[in-house]
Amino acid sequence: MARRHAPWAAANGSVADRPVPIPAGRLSVVSYGLPGLAAPGWSATMNRSLRSAREGVAFVAAAASACCLWAEVGESALPHLVSRDGRHALIVDGAPFLILGAQSHNSSAWPAMLPGVWTAVEAAQANTLEVPVYWEQFEPEQGTFDPSIVDQLLQGARERNVRLVLLWFGTWKNGSSHYLPMWMKHQPELCPLIIGRDGRRVDSPSPHSAALLEADIRAFSGLMRHLRQADPGHTVIMVQVENEPGSWNTVRDFSPAAQKLFAAPVPVELLTALGKEGRAGGDWTAVFGSDADEFFHAWSVARFIGQVAAAGKAEYALPLYVNAALRDPLARPAASSYESGGATDNVLDIWKTAAPAVDVLAPDIYMSDSARYMKVMDLYSRPDNALFVPETIGSVAGTRYCYAALARGAIGWSPFGVDGPRRGAGGAGTAQSGDAPLDPIAISFRVIGPMMREVAQWGFEGRLHAAVEEKDEQLQLLSLGRWQAAVAFGPPTFGFGRSPQGNPDPVGRVLVAQLGENEFMVTGYLCRVEFKVADPASGARRQFLRVEEGSYGGGAFRPSRIWNGDETDWGLNFGSAPQVLRVQLATY
Ligand code: DGJ
Repeated sequence: MARRHAPWAAANGSVADRPVPIPAGRLSVVSYGLPGLAAPGWSATMNRSLRSAREGVAFVAAAASACCLWAEVGESALPHLVSRDGRHALIVDGAPFLILGAQSHNSSAWPAMLPGVWTAVEAAQANTLEVPVYWEQFEPEQGTFDPSIVDQLLQGARERNVRLVLLWFGTWKNGSSHYLPMWMKHQPELCPLIIGRDGRRVDSPSPHSAALLEADIRAFSGLMRHLRQADPGHTVIMVQVENEPGSWNTVRDFSPAAQKLFAAPVPVELLTALGKEGRAGGDWTAVFGSDADEFFHAWSVARFIGQVAAAGKAEYALPLYVNAALRDPLARPAASSYESGGATDNVLDIWKTAAPAVDVLAPDIYMSDSARYMKVMDLYSRPDNALFVPETIGSVAGTRYCYAALARGAIGWSPFGVDGPRRGAGGAGTAQSGDAPLDPIAISFRVIGPMMREVAQWGFEGRLHAAVEEKDEQLQLLSLGRWQAAVAFGPPTFGFGRSPQGNPDPVGRVLVAQLGENEFMVTGYLCRVEFKVADPASGARRQFLRVEEGSYGGGAFRPSRIWNGDETDWGLNFGSAPQVLRVQLATY
């Protein structure tokens, strides 16, 4: 079998030297030596290898042009994240990958439910299914792991050429511990609950329980070990550790054990990370004042999960993330009003310090107003954190935010509950005349899917811009260097002279990639895009050199026709069809 190595993988021999057999049906995928096959100390070697791989990627990517990077490297190595200039890419099969995701409902990862899940994934035209693995299902008897559902998911995904993100419903699920196996629930000493300020038990697991931590580590490690053996082709590309951890209805644990820790000095490691070295020796209240309760809980929860993640990663070093139930990003509410201890925007630094094995802190965005939606995405896009939206609204209006996420360089975006009624969902998507209505998610995914690799690379390079329709903002401007794109939302009108009317619901969207100073990829939905010179005082006027409709794939654009005449004289009009344009501009 021909092996084409990514330059950075070939450069660090220890990763690339140990091919493992490829299962039938995945012949084009090359994968490499895994911990179970290696000598002791493997994970340190692997971590070093991954580190140098990341550095190698940064170097190669800086030197390479957008198009040739993945064309040369082929498929390889473990999925991993790379970062450059404060932006990030998820590398899968040796190239940037975009998770165009679909998350199932909570109770769908059972054999009887899977046919419906796969149908929904296909309807959404998603390239990745996010689906839970339940602790109660994975370890039905203490110490006995049942990976059969994982194997079914792997098989189903491979048959459909879909990737998986597995969600470990372990100690925490939405702040509670309802997914613990029955044998644990029968032994409360293994899974103590936290105690509220009033001395009563709260329906949330204790992050201070060594027994619970040990049990979770054992089970999660078992899952990752199984993946390492069962998934050499990397159908699973990321794993979520726990689900929306933290606690509702109390800001922290007030048990005697927690009280003791709360009165102890804040760990020096955290003080250093927060630039508070001078406060060494101070307890949580002395250092953090009114934030002390929440910060202590965030540290405690993150510390626990960081250890679960590290243990899992030592078995199999896939990218790991933790999802967060959010707080209002604009109002700065009291911690008692949201899920305290989770990775909310105000404690990201604490989480990063306490849980370095967690690669990404990811917001579950169910906000339907744009100001909050955008603010959340800005808060979670950081040089030390890739933006990934693992859960969001799957309505027609909600799915317009997909483009806004891509323009921020997101590595993925995934509506929740695709296989049934969705929260906040409106009607089905707009149909082309005569066609069945589209699943709303498919409106964006059918356009982005075929050029997913290009879009992921453009996002990594900071080339993407988006506008999404607002009820009161039907005309928006995108700044594109010497050019401006004026985006008018509303069903396309034929001709000049009408101000933008807007769509009945704010569903319009446009995504622009700046490919060169004067060259763009443009795709839109129910809007009109007009390119203009940014500085009209220069006297220069815009002319189209060429506007081509076509498709991207494998690093190249394949035109199918040239737009001219009515198709360009009155702006570039996008209806509901999945049209992708390459636009070349000049002045006269
Ligand atoms: C957020 C959780 O992470 C999901 O598992 C699910 O419970 C949704 N909320 C339901 O809206």
